[in-house]
Amino acid sequence: MDKVFQLTQNISFTLGDALLELIYVIASVLFIIGLKMLSSPKSAKKGNLWAAVGMVMAIIATITLHVDKEGQAIGNIPLILVAIAVGTVIGWAIAVKVKMTAMPQLVSFFNGMGGASAALISLMEFPHLAHGAATAAMGTGEVLAILLGLMIGSVSFAGSMVAFGKLDGKVGDIRAPFLRVVNLIFLIVLIGFIVYIMLQGNVVPQDMMPVIYIMLAISLIYGISFVMPIGGADMPVVISLLNSFTGVAAAMGGFLYDNQAMLTGGILVGSAGTILTILMCRAMNRSLMNVIIGSFGGGGAAASSEGGTVKEISLSDAAVLLNYSSKVYVIPGYGLAVAQAQHLVNEMSKLLEANGVEVKFGIHSVAGRMPGHMNVLLAEADVPYEKLIEEKDASEEMASTDVAVVIGANDVVNPAALDDPSSPIYGMPIIKAGSAKNVIVMKRGMGKGYAAIENNLFYADNTRMLFGNAKDSIQKLIEEIKAL
Ligand code: TAP
Repeated sequence: MDKVFQLTQNISFTLGDALLELIYVIASVLFIIGLKMLSSPKSAKKGNLWAAVGMVMAIIATITLHVDKEGQAIGNIPLILVAIAVGTVIGWAIAVKVKMTAMPQLVSFFNGMGGASAALISLMEFPHLAHGAATAAMGTGEVLAILLGLMIGSVSFAGSMVAFGKLDGKVGDIRAPFLRVVNLIFLIVLIGFIVYIMLQGNVVPQDMMPVIYIMLAISLIYGISFVMPIGGADMPVVISLLNSFTGVAAAMGGFLYDNQAMLTGGILVGSAGTILTILMCRAMNRSLMNVIIGSFGGGGAAASSEGGTVKEISLSDAAVLLNYSSKVYVIPGYGLAVAQAQHLVNEMSKLLEANGVEVKFGIHSVAGRMPGHMNVLLAEADVPYEKLIEEKDASEEMASTDVAVVIGANDVVNPAALDDPSSPIYGMPIIKAGSAKNVIVMKRGMGKGYAAIENNLFYADNTRMLFGNAKDSIQKLIEEIKAL
């Protein structure tokens, strides 16, 4: 009788396991399809939904079907459900309330939460390694996954919180030459800790907990000191790097729990973040090594000198100039997002096109405050994707452009990146708006950009300023153009 019971139990375990694995595969496929769909603004919303469905499936399957090596089902289900409910309500409330311009901070915050979760998994699981045995051999893949999850997750959490504060304007840059050395020492010490723990032979994991706590503390401090000196125009690189850290830390959890969905999700985030980091490095002309040891600077320190007087343009003159041009390039930046003028800019471009003007949009990879910020903004206003031209191609077309209309952009059109070796953004590719025959810059005043440096484009002979909130200015320009 006992044997029959045992057999039925084994069969149901196997069936449950098989179903769980199948759901994990389906969830992983949904993550991949979702990620693929995120690559175009048209399908991005649906892609997000598909990936979310995959995640819900994986969570439900884990709670209901997962059994550990001893055949135990998941415990604490009421607690898990309460945690999910609380997290859902908080996440939903924040997402509904957040302004479009505060989105980058939110992304950083959520990324930090992912890192914190991965680090907590490691903290919880390390002492469990000894369960059922007085001693445990340390040098296993499981232990390595736990230690890497702890280190990378904590660095990502602390770094993302600093990035959150910087994007929110609450945390300034602390830049000191010794930080480069200190950061390198932290990194070496952390790797040293991992090697030391891995090399321990027969130790009870609980006895190693003080070492684990020290490692946690150093990782958190390293996360802060690593992001602290990076600021100004260099933030995009660090944001995408932290993103990839969280992905890798989550993948460690997936490896630890033998959870395919978590592993795939982590790897996808990790690799997508790494690819984005490489692209951002290229966009900023920085090397990845510099980023990893937190050695490159940000804005604010050296500022290009002010270059003369600015010339203003009236609304009616701007309307005439635009309307009787053959080719106009709109170069949007963070100010367009602040003004929420994306719909109006689309209306203006359609109006100009109806009057025979060719209108294109020059999109810089780091314009705004998050990767793809301008693409998302303009897609929301239904600006056709084919009209969005990347910085290199847009720059090449500038000489044949009658008017470059810079709307709320500053750093991404700053010529100091090309001609001022003392500038913190020197070397960063820009959209060469100044090469167009005429430049109209729409901004509220002479406020600086994120890198907090002067912009000589505003003083150039062919540049004229149209001061005011971008939304008001474009609205009035549309009326002027219609009246022509
Ligand atoms: P910024 O250099 O930040 O310049 C934005 C300009 O918009 C400001 O000079 C401001 O001037 C103007 N502005 C603000 N509100 C406005 C409004 N309502 N109407 C009209 N103008 C307004 O923008 P950018 O050229 O897009 O460059 C982005 C910068 O942020 C880069 O340095 C980049 O590295 C950094 N960054 C990017 C990211 C990502 S991932 N994209 C993340 C973090 C940091 P006034 O105050 O005079 O109006």
